[in-house]
Amino acid sequence: MADAAEIVNWVVGVALALSTLVTLFLWTAPSQYDPFAHVKAQGPQAGETDEDAKFANQTRDRLSRSPEPQKTLQVVVLGDIGRSPRMQYHAISFAKHGGKVDLIGFHESELHPEVSSNKNITIVPLVPTPSALQTNSKILFLFTAPLKILWQIWTLYHILGYGTKPAKWMLVQNPPSIPTLAIAQWICFFRCTKLIIDWHNFGYSILALKLGPRHPFVRISKFYERSFSQRADTHFTVSNAMARMLQSTFNIKATTLHDRPASQFQPLTAEQRKTVLERLSETKEYAKDIQSGHWKLIVSSTSWTADEDFGLLLDALQAYSSSARERQSLPNLLVIITGKGPQKEYYLDKIQSLNQEKKLDRMLISTAWLSTEDYASLLGAADIGISLHKSSSGVDLPMKVVDMFGAGLPVLGWGKFEAWPELVREGINGRGFGSAEELTRLLQEVLEGDGKQLQKLREGASKESAIRWDDEWDEVAGKLFKFGRS
Ligand SMILES: *[C@@H]1O[C@H](CO)[C@@H](O)[C@H](O)[C@H]1NC(C)=O
Ligand SMILES: *[C@@H]1O[C@H](CO)[C@@H](O)[C@H](O)[C@H]1NC(C)=O
Repeated sequence: MADAAEIVNWVVGVALALSTLVTLFLWTAPSQYDPFAHVKAQGPQAGETDEDAKFANQTRDRLSRSPEPQKTLQVVVLGDIGRSPRMQYHAISFAKHGGKVDLIGFHESELHPEVSSNKNITIVPLVPTPSALQTNSKILFLFTAPLKILWQIWTLYHILGYGTKPAKWMLVQNPPSIPTLAIAQWICFFRCTKLIIDWHNFGYSILALKLGPRHPFVRISKFYERSFSQRADTHFTVSNAMARMLQSTFNIKATTLHDRPASQFQPLTAEQRKTVLERLSETKEYAKDIQSGHWKLIVSSTSWTADEDFGLLLDALQAYSSSARERQSLPNLLVIITGKGPQKEYYLDKIQSLNQEKKLDRMLISTAWLSTEDYASLLGAADIGISLHKSSSGVDLPMKVVDMFGAGLPVLGWGKFEAWPELVREGINGRGFGSAEELTRLLQEVLEGDGKQLQKLREGASKESAIRWDDEWDEVAGKLFKFGRS
């Protein structure tokens, strides 16, 4: 009998402990979304005059009679906000219609000017990952990755659950999917927030680049990505090909919201081009030669990662240089590479040694990190844009090509993936290549002779420039958020 009493005691003890834990948890759980929080919050304020109070009363009265929920959105990117143009554009578009946006991510590089000056957008920075956990080594990656993820779980959970007010919608960029998707699901569940996933690519396919497609981590990551994305309310993708792939691999129905150039990417007039070439320190010295066509200005922007093979461009430029030695009809090249990333130093050293060996004659390769405005001006002033983006999933589209088209700049790009023709029409606004040799041949073809081909591509790119982000966003996302067209 004593035994039975002990068991009862034990059971009661466990039950008590469990219920205390659950209570504690619920008590500290993230608060729920309340569409009228902004109305209730307008109580009498300190230092308020009678007139103010009366006005506030009237407003509150009017709102409580015909309440209109405030449109609030959290835009979440587990990355540098400044280097996530699309997420910034989402925030700007939502804010433009009068919605309130929390833009959540790492605050490292400079933000889009329309974001930093916008009163409807609040930047909520995540706590940066300690530098000891950042590594490119494959062996160390297996050790530091879990620690890095633990860190990100903490900062993301803390900011999303407690550092911000609940919003009606949460728009999350994927990838990175770990731990973003799981945490976003969890928080949205507690806060009654509607989750929207903005698919830029697949997290598992990027991991597969690093570890190989058969690695168990890649399989786990795919399973994870599927499980935590299926219950989201809405999905946007950057291409039709990606929407098809989501349907076939994860059985998810998505709407395509194509990237389009933002308004600061515009074609330049000859006069504007001259001003830009003379102003930018990267082009100043060559301004006259570029305008006369003796030098051609080529721009490529790269993230200096495994996703983009910079070596390929370097090989093609070497081959161009050696052919230009004999063919005087080929113009000299000023090649400007913009962007920041892990492999940059490695390639800078390589360029230097190639220069010493005189393998990059009749061209100058320089790197730059420009503000958005300067980058947009540079694209407008260039002759050709080059995209090295090798899609890991085959269905994502490089945003930089979109920006180049915005500036009316024809594009030569790595074109051996499924979604490429959705963006670039061969021979009309750009050309695709699949090897360094092909890129060399394209450069020679497009740049040599009377320039007719380049002119034709430029006309095609200018046509492309007319379709803008705001039109696309209002049509697709604006409908979801029930913003009238403005
Ligand atoms: C505003 O409303 C509160 C109660 O809701 C009332 O106590 C207060 O006197 C009102 N103020 C004015 C200026 O009408
Ligand atoms: C901010 O929202 C208001 C409406 O609340 C709107 O009139 C204004 O244009 C928005 N500002 C920006 C910069 O988008």
